[in-house]
Amino acid sequence: MNTKTKIAGIGLFLGLAALLLVAVSPLHLQALNPGPMTPGHEALSCTSCHTEAPGTARQQIQANLAYLTGFRKAPVAFGYETPDSNDCSACHARPDDAHPLHRFAEPRFVEAVRVVRATTCLGCHREHQGTRVSSNTEFCAACHDDLVVKNDPVDIPHRILVAEERWSTCLGCHDYHGNHAREAQKRLADAFDVQTIRSYLSDGSDPYGKARRHPAKGERP
Ligand code: HEC
Ligand code: HEC
Ligand code: HEC
Ligand code: HEC
Ligand code: HEC
Repeated sequence: MNTKTKIAGIGLFLGLAALLLVAVSPLHLQALNPGPMTPGHEALSCTSCHTEAPGTARQQIQANLAYLTGFRKAPVAFGYETPDSNDCSACHARPDDAHPLHRFAEPRFVEAVRVVRATTCLGCHREHQGTRVSSNTEFCAACHDDLVVKNDPVDIPHRILVAEERWSTCLGCHDYHGNHAREAQKRLADAFDVQTIRSYLSDGSDPYGKARRHPAKGERP
């Protein structure tokens, strides 16, 4: 390497380092927002979900430069970690969740979890996509295809709904977490239609109503 190349190399390194330093400063976090928030999250600060990543800024810059220049296989979390289920549960703790994450670590759910990532909040709730739920309306099938409801109170019994694979009706009567303070309808004609449910899973209004058994932290009960 001649001196000119060396100087150019050092210049490039310092330039990149400065750029990355600017990128991690909290003042610039807002500009890094990759997309619209989940409805209800608009007012949260970035750091209520993204905690600072381990390692000093210099270590992170070195590791990421190594990645950019091909000496490292993967980039390291830059400045802030990608949130996980624990970050969500800090504000959304529900001791009586109808579908708690930990249940689905059991071996009998191995197949189902391949289809529906029920062991992590992010399996169904991507962030920065402007939607409440990123999964489809029919994922109940992965676990309830052998469903039998004793003394079934529904006019079209579950046995028939399941046999006819009418999976898009389930969310019309049941919410997933059981956190809405309500009872499931008993007549199929009263179920919310699939358009209404799709709209809620996206960013539309909530057909199940406002009352919650466990309000999110930061929200008035
Ligand atoms: C409610 C929690 C939450 C808040 C608040 C939040 N984020 Fe995120 N962010 C996430 C999650 C979860 C992901 C991972 C995306 C995915 O896989 O669904 C993510 C991903 C990202 C990424 C992609 C890199 C990575 O770490 O995966 C960036 C950049 C980012 N967020 C920046 C921001 C900024 C800037 C703000 C504030 C304006 C912010 N986020 C607020 C939850 C949040
Ligand atoms: C700092 C507290 C906080 C954190 C952390 C947080 N949330 Fe929220 N979340 C809220 C609040 C407050 C609302 C608004 C509740 C409302 O309007 O009913 C909300 C709303 C939501 C909604 C929409 C609910 C609705 O009724 O419209 C979903 C889905 C959600 N959060 C999932 C998540 C997931 C997944 C994570 C982790 C990536 C997460 N939240 C992290 C506080 C938080
Ligand atoms: C297998 C998919 C799935 C997983 C995993 C999942 N959710 Fe949900 N979640 C849904 C669906 C579907 C809805 C919409 C129906 C409803 O309101 O319950 C929902 C609704 C919500 C809501 C709004 C209604 C309410 O309960 O207050 C919040 C908040 C929420 N989820 C948070 C979480 C958090 C936090 C986790 C992880 C601990 C999580 N979810 C894991 C599918 C999932
Ligand atoms: C990953 C597996 C899995 C998925 C996906 C799943 N469930 Fe469940 N569900 C369960 C298990 C396990 C139970 C507990 C049954 C038991 O205790 O015998 C349960 C219980 C329930 C209950 C009874 C709740 C209570 O508190 O008594 C309802 C209602 C329900 N599920 C509806 C749904 C609906 C609607 C969907 C789709 C939106 C769905 N489930 C998706 C595994 C799943
Ligand atoms: C017309 C409304 C309606 C529809 C549609 C519906 N359910 Fe139900 N479901 C009920 C009612 C009412 C009960 C009994 C009360 C309760 O557990 O909430 C019930 C009970 C359940 C239970 C609890 C069973 C037990 O033994 O405790 C599960 C699990 C369940 N439903 C899953 C589903 C699935 C999966 C679908 C989609 C195929 C579905 N339901 C469709 C209204 C409905």
